Amino acid sequence: AWTMGNVIEEQVAKVREQVGSGRVICALSGGVDSAVAAALVQRAVGDQLTCVFVDHGLLRAGEAEQVERDFVAATGVKLKVVDAVDRFLGALEGVSDPEEKRKIIGREFIRVFEAAAREVVEEAAEHGEGEPVRFLVQGTLYPDVVESGGGEGAANIKSHHNVGGLPDDLQFELVEPLRTLFKDEVRAVGAELGLPEEIVQRQPFPGPGLGIRIVGAVTQDRLETLRAADAIAREELTAAGLDREIWQCPVVLLADVRSVGVQGDGRTYGHPIVLRPVSSEDAMTADWTRLPYDVLARISTRITNEVAEVNRVVLDVTSKPPGTIEWE
Ligand code: XMP
Repeated sequence: AWTMGNVIEEQVAKVREQVGSGRVICALSGGVDSAVAAALVQRAVGDQLTCVFVDHGLLRAGEAEQVERDFVAATGVKLKVVDAVDRFLGALEGVSDPEEKRKIIGREFIRVFEAAAREVVEEAAEHGEGEPVRFLVQGTLYPDVVESGGGEGAANIKSHHNVGGLPDDLQFELVEPLRTLFKDEVRAVGAELGLPEEIVQRQPFPGPGLGIRIVGAVTQDRLETLRAADAIAREELTAAGLDREIWQCPVVLLADVRSVGVQGDGRTYGHPIVLRPVSSEDAMTADWTRLPYDVLARISTRITNEVAEVNRVVLDVTSKPPGTIEWE
């Protein structure tokens, strides 16, 4: 029978054959695909793999820890963490245009990953580990193979034979152990490999992260506000058992809009938070999810009580089309 165990055995054998005694590098984004791809390659070649996690400061609460602590604990993978938060925030300073933000985040990601890859290559050479780093793991799925595009954006450097965006002296051969799999199979493989539920069942999250969920310029304070509101929404949706019904639920900070409220001792002049829960099969079209009113009420009460800058929670009831899933 065709089981996830068989898929793993088969892919492990293929990776070993492709890589031999060579050294391998992988960028982790916090997403499902890169995590499962890395875990499979780790299973196949162990310490020949080094993972790189670029912390750009645009992930949600707890997600960097999921990579740095939980993923490492589950797999024993060798991980290099690059704290690039200041660099990304510096590059994004004063930028409000969504496409401009995407370009900046994508460009900085490539630069930081490239520098980290170079260090991994040099460290391996210094330790006389013989084989140069020749391979790069990519979490390419079957649907990505069929129609190029989609995927996890900035955190996913996609290309077919040589890796776009990296300089000539850093050319890698791609290792793509998920190329024959669909998303639900990737999740099953991840679970079989012992990855934590929070990583394996993670809903789609854009590569540029919270950078495109702040309508307005990105700042550290705004990120903290959004992170706090998003954590509350996720917590309540999970507690209500709604995760499987929702495709994804962007939580958006309207940083350039101010709204008046009465909180505590008096009038406040804060910001609205938008909840954008959607149901979808493939993100091409989507409908707004009819969440129970009591769950919406709990999310709203908690966010306005617990997040100082927010005095209003609004629900997005637009389908796609005409509205996209993300606000930017
Ligand atoms: P939209 O907003 O276009 O989103 O309806 C469709 C799906 O794509 C995700 N998305 C992105 N993913 N980089 C990504 O990796 C991006 O720049 C990006 N923009 C949107 C979005 O979360 C949804 O799943």
